[in-house]
This record gives sequence, C-alpha cells and structure tokens, in this order.
Amino acid sequence: MNYFKEAVENVKDNVNASSLHKYMAQLREKKDPEEIVLLQKAMDMTTDGFREMIRELSPGMSEYQAQAIVEYHAKKGGSEYMGYPSICGGGANSCVLHYTYNRKKLDAKELLLVDMGAEYHGYTADITRTLPVDGKFSQEETMIYNLVLAAQNAGIDQCRKGKGFRDAHHAAYEVIGKGLVELGIIKEINEANKYFMHGTSHYLGLDVHDAGTFTALQSGVVMTVEPGIYIAEGSPCDRKWWGIGVRIEDDILVTESAPIIMTAALPRTIHELERLMAEDF
Ligand code: GLY
Ligand code: MN
Ligand code: MN
Repeated sequence: MNYFKEAVENVKDNVNASSLHKYMAQLREKKDPEEIVLLQKAMDMTTDGFREMIRELSPGMSEYQAQAIVEYHAKKGGSEYMGYPSICGGGANSCVLHYTYNRKKLDAKELLLVDMGAEYHGYTADITRTLPVDGKFSQEETMIYNLVLAAQNAGIDQCRKGKGFRDAHHAAYEVIGKGLVELGIIKEINEANKYFMHGTSHYLGLDVHDAGTFTALQSGVVMTVEPGIYIAEGSPCDRKWWGIGVRIEDDILVTESAPIIMTAALPRTIHELERLMAEDF
C-alpha cells in the first residue's frame, strides 16, 4: 500500500493529532532503503565503539570511562550525537533499568551492562552488551547469559514478515521462564516477569522507540530484540545469583525472507566476547 499517498489524501481535509498519528505511525514503521542505509551506518559506528570498549575494559575503570570509549569511537566514525542517554551499569547497577548515572568504579568480579546507540543524520542505533569486567564470566553469570542469548535467538527468529509484533517477546519470555524454572530461581514460568520486567522489542528509526502500528511485521521494519534477566540483591532466590543483570540487544531488519541482524558485526557469544576481551591492543 502506498501509505504516503493515502496519508496525504485522507489527512488534507482533516488534520488533527489522531489522524496524523495513525499515518505517521504507518509511514515511520516501514523504512525506505535510504533510511536503512543511514540506520546501518549508525549501527556500524556503534559496533566499532563497543568493540574498542570491550577490548579496553578492565577493573578500576569507571562506568563513564567505558561509556566515553564507545562515544569517542562512534563520533570519530561520524555520529553527531548519541541517540538516547547512555546506560553503563556495573555490578548491582546492571540490574537497574534506565540507569544513567554512570559514575561507579568497576570491580573485577562484576558484570558491566552497556546500552548505547550512536545517532547518524537523525537515525539511531540501539545496542546492549553485558561483559565481565575481568574478562571471564563466572559459572552463574554464564548460565544467566546463555539463557538470555537463547531467548534473544528465539526472539530474532520471530522477526519475519507476517508475524505479530509481540511474537518475539512471547518467544523470548517462554525461553527465559523455562530456563529460570530449571535453574530453581522461580517455580512457575509466569513468575519470570519478576526478573524479566520489560518488553523485548520496539521499532527503531528517527526515535530510539520509533513510531509504528504494532501490527503484523512487514519487510522494511527495523526493530530491536533485547531480552534481559535482572536479579537484584535481596531477590527471593539463592544469593549466588544476586547482582547479576544481563541484557543482550541487537537491531533486526525484517525482510521478505530471513531476519537480518544489522548489528551482527558485534560478538554476542561468551566465547567470542571473552576472546575479544583477551586481545592485546
Ligand atoms: N536504550 C533504550 C532501549 O533499549 O529501549
Ligand atoms: Mn532498545
Ligand atoms: Mn537499548
């Protein structure tokens, strides 16, 4: 459907907030090829920044210093701004959604959750990686990380033309629910929202949470898949899990066939991340 033509014809005599909202959501949901080029550039600048930050991360660094490395390399690559306030939380801060204070010094035995996106010509990336500050995931961190990764893969597999917008969330939630039951952290799958308390996806574009209709996916939609598990201190489970907060977030293009992970240049597996952290530079 030519949304632009329909929008112009229908709105011209009846311009109000709700008529415009409907058509702007349709227009912004499906990206033109030129928009996809700009988004890919924003994502590539961000993945370059993350790669440098991952290689340089070490105990004693502060959250804002890790943030600065991503931002420096993204801007060096051409990004004018960051697309949203950077989240860079170590240890207990990894469990705080939308943590942006970013002032803590990082200890060797904690995880660092970094959620950042470079903006380029108005279009923003949105990427999250979670890393062990000393370069090696502990046993408990490994179990939680691999569960989030499995949930993310299940979510990405739902980013297909004709699927419902929320299918990615349902798939990711199911994997996390079953996994948390198996680890003895919860008793029933429907308790998973204690530890996975946000949605899995949003549209991405001119805004980090871009406008859209939340109906069946079409080719040209760009969306995030970002499951997470956050086990704050004092949670009703074995204390060995406390303080582990993991989110993995990538940006996905829905196509006529398989989903494309536009941020695939940045490693996601434990093996790849540990190898990158061990690199000399
Ligand atoms: N960075 C904001 C979000 O992931 O939705
Ligand atoms: Mn996001
Ligand atoms: Mn994000």
